[in-house]
Amino acid sequence: MTAFGTVFMPEMIASEYNGTQWSQPAVVPSDSLTLHPGAHVFHYASTCFEGLKAFRHEDGSINIFRLDQNIRRMAQSTRLLALPEVDQALLEQMILEITERFAGDVPEPPGSMYIRPTHIGTEAAIGKAAAPSTTSLLYVLLSPVGDYFSGGSGTLRLLLQEEGMRCAPHMGEVKSGGNYASALPSILQARAEVKADQVLFCPHGEVQETGAANFLLFDGDEVITKSLDSTLLHGVTRNSVLQLARDMGMSVQERDLTVAELLERAAKPGCEAALSGTAAVLAPVGTLIHQGRDYKVGTGAAGELTQKLRRMMNDIQWGKAEDPHGWLTRV
Ligand code: COI
Repeated sequence: MTAFGTVFMPEMIASEYNGTQWSQPAVVPSDSLTLHPGAHVFHYASTCFEGLKAFRHEDGSINIFRLDQNIRRMAQSTRLLALPEVDQALLEQMILEITERFAGDVPEPPGSMYIRPTHIGTEAAIGKAAAPSTTSLLYVLLSPVGDYFSGGSGTLRLLLQEEGMRCAPHMGEVKSGGNYASALPSILQARAEVKADQVLFCPHGEVQETGAANFLLFDGDEVITKSLDSTLLHGVTRNSVLQLARDMGMSVQERDLTVAELLERAAKPGCEAALSGTAAVLAPVGTLIHQGRDYKVGTGAAGELTQKLRRMMNDIQWGKAEDPHGWLTRV
């Protein structure tokens, strides 16, 4: 089994912005890119990306989950990084075209085709530390994937970290490489020191999110997760799971959650927690580590509700259930 995101389709689709307009998208080999070493992206991190998936249905059709939301978020990240504005219709056309080209390679369930649109500032101008790149490259990579978390026991161990942050607080909603890089030292330390799978960032005792996924707490008929602000990624999977929970009649609370409340609720046998994201889907959390102590979430095993919500979303994605909210786009 290859690691998530390490196998790519041999071609990608790309369009260049030359300072005035976007070029006609071209299908090009996906194993190399020629860029000037002085390109803005290498020095001033002018880059953002998206992660969405295409699914194969039993009738052979290929369907992309929440295409519109991911394109909208890419446009928002682009704006917040002062990259050249993304033409959303063009990006949609690029995603559809490259996915259709490799439709035959979209894995059967439980696999899917991970779609990675990427936008980078290409202008070679190292003096532009305080000015945006006037040129950019937009490309869409494809990677057939299975599970992102393929850990042993089936549930995740999260270290609650109250010092430090995942990223600069006004940049949390931007899906940009720098945010992921800035979370890495904490994650590496947590792996080495307490064998944690991930770090749950809780600056000043407020539960936020992990390095690569949002955090959700399920307690009885309540779902609690941090409300959307600039400090955290506005997860499309988070939004989908909350909608499914509302559809089930659950009480969805987007609000602040303190570490103290989290630990108190986690001690209840019926409590569950999960990480949500395109890659993570909805991954159960079994253990929280706080100040050197392990705290089980509920029984510590994958909870029923987490599994149910994950199945409900997967059933929509794989065409095994109705798509009541119109989340799928047929390729
Ligand atoms: C995603 O869930 O799509 C992400 O971008 C996270 C990454 C770790 C694969």
